[in-house]
This record gives sequence, C-alpha cells and structure tokens, in this order.
Amino acid sequence: MAELAVNIDHIATLREARGGIEPDPIAGAVIAELAGAVGIVCHLREDRRHINDRDVRLLREIVKTKLDLEMAATPDIIAVALDVLPDLVTIVPERREELTTEGGLDVAARVEFYADLVERMHEKEIEVSFFIEPDREQIDAALEAGADIVELHTGIYANARTPDEVRSELERLAAAAAYAHENRLRVTAGHGLNYVNITPVVRIPQIVEVSIGHAIVSRAVFVGLERAVREMCALVRLGASSNE
Ligand code: PXP
Repeated sequence: MAELAVNIDHIATLREARGGIEPDPIAGAVIAELAGAVGIVCHLREDRRHINDRDVRLLREIVKTKLDLEMAATPDIIAVALDVLPDLVTIVPERREELTTEGGLDVAARVEFYADLVERMHEKEIEVSFFIEPDREQIDAALEAGADIVELHTGIYANARTPDEVRSELERLAAAAAYAHENRLRVTAGHGLNYVNITPVVRIPQIVEVSIGHAIVSRAVFVGLERAVREMCALVRLGASSNE
C-alpha cells in the first residue's frame, strides 16, 4: 500500500525568489506531517538554489516521520549527510544547468563508488535509495552496491503524450517494480507525479511510497498546504487500495 512523502524544495524556491525568510520550508514540513505525509524530502543542491544547510539541520531536528535527504554523491554534500544524519539519503544525478533532476542515476557506471558510499552511510545507520530509470541493469547495479531502496524515475511517464506512451511507460515501471521487489529492494517512485497522473502509479503493488513536490506546492498556493497534502494522501491511499 503506497504512502506519500512530501518534497518541500519548492517552498524554499519561493523563499529564495526574494532571498528572505518566508515561506519557511520548516513550517511546511510540520504542516505536511500533520496532514498525513509519512516522510519529508528535501534536495540539498550543490548551488543551494532552494534548500540550504540551515534548512537541512532544522529539518533533522523537527521531522518526526522520516527525513529523506536527496543529494548528489559529491564530497561536500556527503559530508553534510554524514554530519546531519537523515534517516535516508536518495542519491540523484545533478547538473548545474538543469531546472530539475532530469534523468535517473547511472549506478551501473560506478558500482564500486556507490558501494563504498552505501557502506559509509550504513555505518551511520542511514538508509540509501538510488533514483534510477526503471530498468533491470540499474536495479542490478543498485543491488550490487547494497542499496536498501530504489526510487523509480516517473518523469518519462509524467511527460508521455499519447495513451500508447503512457501504457508502455507504466508497463516499464510495473516490470521494474516487480523485479526490484523480487530482489528484496523496497520500491518507491517519483518525479512529475500530480493529482491527475498519480493513480496508475500507486496501483503498482510493489510501490510502497511516492515522493511528490512540485504538484503539491503548486496546489497549496490556491488551497493551502494542509489541504493540498491531505488531498494527495487520499488519492495515493485510494489508488493503492483499489489494487488490493
Ligand atoms: N524524487 C526525486 C528523486 C526528485 O529528484 C524529485 C524532484 O526534486 C522528486 C521526487 C519530486 O519531483 P516533483 O517535484 O516533480 O514532484
């Protein structure tokens, strides 16, 4: 049964638009948890374009569910993670010029490097998730590196234009989720998910969590964050239960 983790990056994006102190993503995390989120996700980017070091430290103090730090595997961000001790890190690729994380991580290209990273995180009891495209080669590599979780990138599904494209991407996600689950990985999904496209994803039985940011913060502008999170929680649970 899938549940919702809320990514609060874009509350910080709004704050950074004026370089001031509001809206505060820390307040957003509190509201999201009260509204039913089972985890809070934030991405500390190398250029600190939204979430900053202060946010991550305060989130570690106040998050009561689970703090998932999304991060590129660069030395300075690894050092922050090992110091702040989130419950979980999600390793993502990062390019400075991108607007958002554009593709999955190529774990297969650097298995030994990522295995070493997993070991360092596990020493501090931090779980590791790899954000990957839904394909077997990357799942095998994540397994080899010792991952606890794989987060399947739903960006191609979210951007699909025709019913055939949507169907074929859902099949790819479902096959990858089943394969990862058979191999004892926990399976989550995220990127580009919204109030319209969420249901088929949470009907994939092996997907236990979805990570959603932009759509929720966008809706919150009109209906408030608490309602936006509650509505998404309801859709996630309804979709997931319709599969049982
Ligand atoms: N999961 C990962 C690994 C991401 O990088 C992002 C974007 O920060 C998300 C989920 C959330 O994507 P969105 O903001 O499109 O919901």
